[in-house]
Amino acid sequence: MENKPVTAIIVGAGHRSMVYSKLALTNPELLKIVGVADPDPIRRKKCRELYGFGEDMCFENANALAAKGRLADTVINGTMDEVHIETSVPLLNAGYDMLLEKPFAVNEEEMRTLVDCARQNHSKVMICHVLRYTPFYYGIKERIAAGEIGDIINIQTLEHVSYHHLSTSYVRGKWANSQKCHTSMLLAKCCHDLDIMMWMMAETKPTAVSSFGGKFQFKPENAPAGAGTRCMVDCPLVDTCRYSCKRLYIDHPDRWSFYVWDKLEGIENPTIEDKINLLKGDSPYGRCIYKCDNDVVDHQSVMVQFASGATGTHNMVGGSSAPLRRIHIIGTKGEIYGNFEESKFYVSKIDPSPDAHNGECQIEEVDLNVKGDMVGAYGGHGGVTSGWRRALSSSSAAKSPAWHAPLFSTLLPVTCVCIWQTKVAPTAASR
Ligand SMILES: NC(=O)c1ccc[n+]([C@@H]2O[C@H](COP(=O)([O-])OP(=O)(O)OC[C@H]3O[C@@H](n4cnc5c(N)ncnc54)[C@H](O)[C@@H]3O)[C@@H](O)[C@H]2O)c1
Repeated sequence: MENKPVTAIIVGAGHRSMVYSKLALTNPELLKIVGVADPDPIRRKKCRELYGFGEDMCFENANALAAKGRLADTVINGTMDEVHIETSVPLLNAGYDMLLEKPFAVNEEEMRTLVDCARQNHSKVMICHVLRYTPFYYGIKERIAAGEIGDIINIQTLEHVSYHHLSTSYVRGKWANSQKCHTSMLLAKCCHDLDIMMWMMAETKPTAVSSFGGKFQFKPENAPAGAGTRCMVDCPLVDTCRYSCKRLYIDHPDRWSFYVWDKLEGIENPTIEDKINLLKGDSPYGRCIYKCDNDVVDHQSVMVQFASGATGTHNMVGGSSAPLRRIHIIGTKGEIYGNFEESKFYVSKIDPSPDAHNGECQIEEVDLNVKGDMVGAYGGHGGVTSGWRRALSSSSAAKSPAWHAPLFSTLLPVTCVCIWQTKVAPTAASR
């Protein structure tokens, strides 16, 4: 029988949906985009022109699409965090399977609503915990599942959110104020890392969590003397401040451009003058970094106790000079460690024989050789597209081990409860 591509309708034609849907352009045998639902007419038009479907497949929102019944195999739901449930429930009830962005819910009640709805409809809901599908984390998971390092004693994950990313997304941007975005930093950013921790520790369950964190840098009392309120309007430090919007966004106009320049989407080829005018106007990205309405933490440390007796820690530190994700897992037979950005990990096994490395262990270097954008500043994510391709390819999914199944895993609710139960205790300086 001929293999047909999975047909999908984009719900929320923003930055993320457009990243995932590009697979339809590179691999039309796997994915075909056949419609769009989005209140924004510019985004609907761009999507229609890119994928070549008719006006009759353009809908003003998720409800209008759901009212038509099932028109495709699946939907790619890339709406913002706080509307995931109101957009997902009618579509799951209409019979769609779904690729849904993280965090799939912003509180425990929403989480239970979605889980119940997916179960009642027997829907497949795949959450965009993209790291799971990267060769780096997938490769580590394979080694653990094969028992290579024995029973896990401790797992450590670390995420450095670079100064550029922190300031753009979590101080000036969409995830800076918890009242507006309805998420915490842990939920918006570290749900990936905590999901990875729970996935690697799938043989057990978390029994207790604790956490410390706070807002260290970006508050009015830390503003340099003489700082203005908008960098390119009234600030004498515009050419020297490390966080000047001129230096971050005019000198680097392509970094996180989908957030910074989203108001210019209606213009065909925005010029640098258009960008300068936007920053001088009312764009949130033109504000003094010390005088924003940010209330989410910029650093947080989480400790987890597992039923098996193992422990885990996750450290998120925002404002570093460069991005970094690191993992280190120590088991009874050996260790696995590596930096995601280097696309390499090491498997070190206990070896008391005299010819072992340092007379202690054997170390194997695993080089995944993934190049390109590992953090998403330009829309990539460390080789995840190959995983998305693999997930859609029915033959490889059938051969994959159970933990690879791209379905709504019971681990995700565990991760979410773990995050919501983590009431952040402020660090001394941020009290
Ligand atoms: N997986 C990752 O690594 C990753 C990275 C960044 C962001 N995200 C997540 O991706 C999601 C989307 O982020 P984004 O920056 O692409 O958002 P965005 O704001 O660019 O796009 C959201 C779109 O949804 C549309 N929309 C709003 N209400 C709607 C409705 N009722 N029906 C249909 N469409 C509707 C909006 O008009 C908008 O075009 C967020 O949940 C975010 O947290 C995930």
